[in-house]
Amino acid sequence: MSSDKEAVREFWDRAACGEELYLASRDLEGYRRQRAKRYELEPYILEFADFGAWKGKDVLEIGVGLGADHQGFAEAGARLTGVDLTERAVENTLRRFELLGLKSDLRAADAEVLPFAANTFDLVYSWGVLHHTPDTPRAIEEVRRVLRAGGSARIMVYHKHSMVGFMLWIRYALLTGRVFTSLDEIYARHLESPGTKAYTVAEARRLFAKFASCEIRTVLTHGDLLESESGQRHRGALLSLARAIWPRRLVRALCPAAGLFMLIAATK
Ligand SMILES: C[S@@+](CC[C@H](N)C(=O)[O-])C[C@H]1O[C@@H](n2cnc3c(N)ncnc32)[C@H](O)[C@@H]1O
Repeated sequence: MSSDKEAVREFWDRAACGEELYLASRDLEGYRRQRAKRYELEPYILEFADFGAWKGKDVLEIGVGLGADHQGFAEAGARLTGVDLTERAVENTLRRFELLGLKSDLRAADAEVLPFAANTFDLVYSWGVLHHTPDTPRAIEEVRRVLRAGGSARIMVYHKHSMVGFMLWIRYALLTGRVFTSLDEIYARHLESPGTKAYTVAEARRLFAKFASCEIRTVLTHGDLLESESGQRHRGALLSLARAIWPRRLVRALCPAAGLFMLIAATK
């Protein structure tokens, strides 16, 4: 594994996404609460994933994390496969599934080299994952390869011109006198795992150019609106102050497209 990817793996192996903030216990109640909190904060996932539509279909999720969305596909009756770069995520999802009596073929694997034959899945779903892997275009090519003709990809990656990016830039560029720091560098160094990327809508269209069709929309998130704890890396007095004075209504009214999440629905 390259040192870049090893750094990503190490980051997510210290705590899976949302584990520190929202998983109080690794039992049924703990996973239930984490899932409820997830959809309270990110309700648009339910419409985007559209779990019920995949009953009886072959579904692959890349980057299962704590397994909340994976549970949605399983409960809807999909024939399910899930991968994640870290054993920690796979173990969490296996534990959730064991407690709930659900089934999936789960294993540690790399999005850039998926261990599946071409034309295997009706849906490849991935929420907040492919911008973390060092070679995102290669991972997207893998998504296309394992999809059947006419199959769907539903992928969330980060959107560059977001309020989260703007706030991080103020904190790590403006307030430290390094005003020439690019947004790319800010996301890579200060958001989550090292090397995290964010894309403009035009860049995302290019990433999915080989798909037959591609629809993209951005979403203002709880992070852009400072409505929640802001991820496992960000705490402190400055953030508490920003949370108290952040003009949420104005942001919603004037910058509805400046959300961190970019939701991409593409067809092979
Ligand atoms: C922000 S978390 C998202 C997890 C989950 N989808 C969610 O929404 O909670 C990012 C996940 O991507 C996984 N990941 C990063 N690079 C990966 C790769 N190359 N292949 C598979 N998973 C990867 C990490 O291990 C981590 O679990």
